[in-house]
Amino acid sequence: MIVPLPGAFRLTCYAYRKDYHRHIFRHPLGCLNADRGEGAGRHYTGERNALFQLENFHRYFLYAGIAILPFFYYDFYHSLVFSGSFALRLGSLVLLANALLLTAWTLSCHALRHLVGGNVDCYSCVMGGGLRKSVYDRQSWLNAHHEALAWISLLTIFFADLYLRGVSAGLPLDASVLGA
Ligand code: FES
Repeated sequence: MIVPLPGAFRLTCYAYRKDYHRHIFRHPLGCLNADRGEGAGRHYTGERNALFQLENFHRYFLYAGIAILPFFYYDFYHSLVFSGSFALRLGSLVLLANALLLTAWTLSCHALRHLVGGNVDCYSCVMGGGLRKSVYDRQSWLNAHHEALAWISLLTIFFADLYLRGVSAGLPLDASVLGA
């Protein structure tokens, strides 16, 4: 039931947008391809058509993406209890890795970068400017890796889902790391 929200957040992510616009829709093309005359006849007219408008809702889907993150950590926490006692198992590590990568991808979002550092001409002139600048710098560092995080976290979410389905189907994939 909740898939449309994280699904929309992911589909409208700038990292994938670049790829599906260039390689699937072939519009707008990268500058070099456009210079070569590929896609001739289709002129870029800005972000005015319906698809672009929809993609611009990404900044709002970000809030849903952030709100969903704690549930992944709750799943990890929940997985630490096995047969009534504490246990660290392979499945818990898979859940934790998935949660951390999803967090890194979400926190490196371009829309979040604008949220924490946008609309400011002078950090020392606004309240909490030093703190805001330092959050912005850290987020910018993470943001530089956003495309890689987008693809890696997409793979880990599929892997974690398959892994959990395998375990729940009774396959012997879950091994004890610590405890029971
Ligand atoms: Fe990729 Fe926001 S731009 S998650």
